[in-house]
Amino acid sequence: MSLCLVANWKLNGSKEFNHQWALEFFKNFNGQNFSSIGIAPASIYIDHLKKVIADKSIKIGAQNIDLVETGPRTGEISASMIKDLGCEFSIIGHSERRILFHETNQIICHKLIQANNNFVVPILCVGESMQEKQDNTTFKVIEQQIIGALKDASELSAIIIAYEPVWAIGSGKIPNPKEINSMHEMIKDVVQSRFPKIGLESVLYGGSVNLENASCLFEQKNIDGALIGGSSLDGKEFALIANVFNDLRV
Ligand code: PGA
Repeated sequence: MSLCLVANWKLNGSKEFNHQWALEFFKNFNGQNFSSIGIAPASIYIDHLKKVIADKSIKIGAQNIDLVETGPRTGEISASMIKDLGCEFSIIGHSERRILFHETNQIICHKLIQANNNFVVPILCVGESMQEKQDNTTFKVIEQQIIGALKDASELSAIIIAYEPVWAIGSGKIPNPKEINSMHEMIKDVVQSRFPKIGLESVLYGGSVNLENASCLFEQKNIDGALIGGSSLDGKEFALIANVFNDLRV
């Protein structure tokens, strides 16, 4: 089963946090489909978290990888390194990486290729800013981000796209779920028509997903799951969101 719910822990966590989170999650999750759940902790905790969740088939991934394999690039981590630790996916091109670390579509494209070469499924993030939304250019912006990132990576065997409006991240605001549904449909159309060789597994929504809005999001046919930041830091809330997903979709 493809990934449906992915926790993006960003710059949060500790060994103690891993233990607490796992305790709360397993106490509250009532599904069996562990392999549709992913967690992206800070890279330094990947190995520890893997041990904490032990035999469960929850997937562990990274929040970012470097655009090359090896070399004089102090502080970077490659796709082959995270694969070596047992990671199955990596978030790539999150808006925080684009804005704070100046990642361009070209850089993102190299990262997608690195992930693919190492059998790590990339979760490519795309999303419009508030200004772009107000200018009514959302559709065009998303299309350009997708084409920009995929044009030199048109044979990726597997990819997940996360639609994350920048203004919805961490703000408590989400677009109308019907609008998200149409955007996901458009994303699927763009990938399938322009890049027919790419294996698009699913399109997730991200930005202020929580227990209150989970059901109205997961009721939408083209929302295949969610990439969750703030609400994923609480093992119980993340488990309850996963239960909502299971009730509606599994
Ligand atoms: P949020 O973050 O759920 O805290 O809005 C989502 C993300 O940035 O992936």
